[in-house]
Amino acid sequence: MPLADIVKKLFGPNTSFRAAKRKFRTSRIIQVHGRFGWNRYDVNSSGLVQHKDPLWHRERCVRDPLKVQLEELEQFSESHDRNTTDRSRMMLNITRDTGEFLSVLVRATGARRVLELGTSNGYSTLWLASAARASGGLVTTVEVSDFKIGLASSNFAKSGLASSIALLHEDAGSVLARAAADSFDFVFMDTDRSRYVSWWPELKRILRVGAVLVADNATTHPQELAAFIELINTDSAFATCVVPVGNGEFIAVKALGA
Ligand SMILES: C[S@@+](CC[C@H](N)C(=O)[O-])C[C@H]1O[C@@H](n2cnc3c(N)ncnc32)[C@H](O)[C@@H]1O
Repeated sequence: MPLADIVKKLFGPNTSFRAAKRKFRTSRIIQVHGRFGWNRYDVNSSGLVQHKDPLWHRERCVRDPLKVQLEELEQFSESHDRNTTDRSRMMLNITRDTGEFLSVLVRATGARRVLELGTSNGYSTLWLASAARASGGLVTTVEVSDFKIGLASSNFAKSGLASSIALLHEDAGSVLARAAADSFDFVFMDTDRSRYVSWWPELKRILRVGAVLVADNATTHPQELAAFIELINTDSAFATCVVPVGNGEFIAVKALGA
């Protein structure tokens, strides 16, 4: 943008260059609001040049900080998992479209009491929590790994969503066993699939009527989920489907009258 236009935008059409330069001298960077949000310019001897710090543009001018954090986590996890051979230290995050899908589901159902089994570094939790916060809800998320609890805690602190998240450092089975009946509106399962069948009685007990259960990896690991899905498909209290988003989401709704 030409300097003359910026001067007019900043200080009004009748401001002289001399007056504008006096103001510029007090700050080496100025901001101008344009069609797509705030723009930043560096003031130097030849006038103004577009400020080049991409982080500032993404985080402060244009982008929602949570979206920026989610993108950073996606990049981190992708490169971390590619360079890690120990599976227990991999992030194994849901895909972005799964996050968007979960967020829409939580908002559409108005779920306030959300339980997540398998936190990892908290990527999926942030999608759930941003949606639950809209209705004043709380996401309880459960993780056994010390290493991942550390990562998740710092990600939650950075997100500004920490007050909408309860992070439990324990085995998911213990949390299910002590949870009260009808205590959750929404459960997202992304953890040790070999235990899902044994957890089913407790899951069924803690879901209130109308609650939604989602299990990840229905299309990537169909054999591992087959017995669990069969158990719910044959339970007349539940309506189910598989949605081909991300790794495949198995969805079950506890029907009215169950
Ligand atoms: C696929 S990762 C979760 C990814 C996370 N949902 C995301 O998308 O960001 C599965 C996680 O479950 C944890 N886990 C495995 N068995 C568990 C158990 N019995 N109780 C709690 N967490 C468990 C693992 O340590 C791992 O971090």
